[in-house]
Amino acid sequence: MLKLGVIGTHIITDQMLDAAKTTGKYELTAVYSRTMERAKEFGQPYGATEFYDDLDTFFAEGDFDVVYVASPNSCHYEQVRKAIENDKFIILEKPAFVNPSQFSAIESLLAAHPKARLVEAARHIHTPIFEKGLEKVEEMKKDHIQGATITVMKYSSRYDNVLADQKPYPNIFTLDFAGGALMDLGVYAVYGAVTFFGEPDTVVYYPTIAKSGVDAKGVAILNYDKFTVTLNFGKTANSHLDSEVYGLKDTLVFDSIFETQKVTYYDADKTAHPFDVPVEKNSMTDEMNDFAALFTNPDDPAQVKKYQRWMDLSRTVNSVMYSLRQSANLTFPADND
Ligand SMILES: NC(=O)c1ccc[n+]([C@@H]2O[C@H](COP(=O)([O-])OP(=O)(O)OC[C@H]3O[C@@H](n4cnc5c(N)ncnc54)[C@H](OP(=O)(O)O)[C@@H]3O)[C@@H](O)[C@H]2O)c1
Repeated sequence: MLKLGVIGTHIITDQMLDAAKTTGKYELTAVYSRTMERAKEFGQPYGATEFYDDLDTFFAEGDFDVVYVASPNSCHYEQVRKAIENDKFIILEKPAFVNPSQFSAIESLLAAHPKARLVEAARHIHTPIFEKGLEKVEEMKKDHIQGATITVMKYSSRYDNVLADQKPYPNIFTLDFAGGALMDLGVYAVYGAVTFFGEPDTVVYYPTIAKSGVDAKGVAILNYDKFTVTLNFGKTANSHLDSEVYGLKDTLVFDSIFETQKVTYYDADKTAHPFDVPVEKNSMTDEMNDFAALFTNPDDPAQVKKYQRWMDLSRTVNSVMYSLRQSANLTFPADND
């Protein structure tokens, strides 16, 4: 059983713990929070026995193998540095880091700490239905690909606070915490494009800026050699559009690129071929199983190969995200650190 410590006590951590329970491979032992009171309030119902409000003590004394990091985006870098320095296995919520210089500094630190492992919790790429979709894209690429349109747009209830001018604005709608639509939801679309087609040649992002300064929603164009991919994402509107990959006359349709429940292949005659692939109730379960397999056998050649692929994807997504922000003159204070 893997002993688990957590940073961040918001709803995503509850969802992760539910998925961890479903796998039967993790037990929560330690909780870090900015207040001891919150650490106990959050952890005791899950059976945790250790509580910390000091990060260095959490890492130095905490009895856990794996740490799950679900703090605001701008906090990831420093917290992951400490986790690596303490040779932990790390599950880091998306988006991993704010920019490529943070990413490469982390990779250098990982090289100096060979026991540590770092994975980004891009849950969708670990689900069997997404993997089946990827296989189909690979098949279509052998024939003819004309790009894709990927949509991830969901109104955030936290935007009500911005509209009502209630300050401080929620972290996810501030530049200080490296928030905004691209970092929070666009990342899933970028992961989809990079997983299907690799690193694009050039990119451009057209954001709509919220009054809090971050991108509220936007459209991004990823230019590849023979086609373009359009990303349509946002946190201040709701979209009901599917995401599509275009062959010549055939099309592969995902009901959602990050909460995929249904994938359908439409052949050249427009006949629908729905995929029959079981989907977990909690969409974080597959990634938690994948990560447990890695952490349990970190030097197994098959796990090493998967780990390297996930790290390569994470690095490329990080680089594309940064290029998209640069094209839109979107900078975060963390970029100047
Ligand atoms: N995979 C997914 O579906 C999914 C969904 C939502 C979020 N996420 C990711 O999870 C991370 C957290 O997102 P969120 O929306 O939950 O963020 P959040 O509510 O702003 O903060 C998350 C937690 O971080 C701690 N925190 C809050 N403000 C902080 C500050 N100023 N300094 C240090 N710690 C602070 C809090 O824990 P304490 O009060 O206990 O210190 C809070 O519970 C982000 O990276 C986000 O992208 C992923």
